[in-house]
Amino acid sequence: DLRRKMIAGNWKMHKTVSEAVALAEDIVMETNGTLNEVVIFPPFTALETVADAIDGKHVGYGAQDLHWEDKGAFTGAVSGAMIADICAEYVLVGHSERRTIFGENEKIVASKIIAAYRNGLKPMLCVGENLAEREAGKTARKINMQLKSALRVISAEDAENLVVAYEPIWAIGSGKAATPEDALEVCTLIREKIGKIFTPDIARKVRILYGGSVNEKNAASFNLSGIDGVLVGGASLKADTFAAIVRSF
Ligand code: G3H
Repeated sequence: DLRRKMIAGNWKMHKTVSEAVALAEDIVMETNGTLNEVVIFPPFTALETVADAIDGKHVGYGAQDLHWEDKGAFTGAVSGAMIADICAEYVLVGHSERRTIFGENEKIVASKIIAAYRNGLKPMLCVGENLAEREAGKTARKINMQLKSALRVISAEDAENLVVAYEPIWAIGSGKAATPEDALEVCTLIREKIGKIFTPDIARKVRILYGGSVNEKNAASFNLSGIDGVLVGGASLKADTFAAIVRSF
């Protein structure tokens, strides 16, 4: 297969270090033997301990955010260099919570994409429209704008290692997932846009995930040929539900 399905768990601001290690170890056990790529995003305080605990196992890990500089006077921030130092493979960039709650604009998102690649990390770029944009029929316009702004800083060579997560803001944590048809429509649009910015060949290699209220009951409905997996929030905080989602693909 050109694109291995990816099931990613974004733990957001949850789990102490001991809870995180227990969850990571349970996820390793309960997803043993899967052919899908499984990646978890613990909070920073737990990331290195989790990394040590699952070192050499089939579950990958990444950071939920990074700063755009590698070091400096940026109180509270963590750099891509620091994240790469603990051998993380992925980093989330442009999650809607970063954009809306922490005020990250397109310029910051693009700078973080650059910082990720500079440090050998694979960015998982999150894009998505809010409810007002969806209801006004502006979904495609919003997604295209976000992609154009973030992808123009990526070289064609690096683009193959990009993962994009389509996360409609109204579906995140709301219990109201997008329909598989709507999710597929936007994921297809994203692939077309990547094809135009780079080449169709590159676009065929980029994984495009759906995220927003995915759970163990609806996950299988997103297992479609144009959707390469899911980015899971709430349902990734328990090993059994997350493992059930992994088995849905
Ligand atoms: O990064 C994950 C998404 O924001 C989805 O969160 O599954 O809790 O809706 P959720």
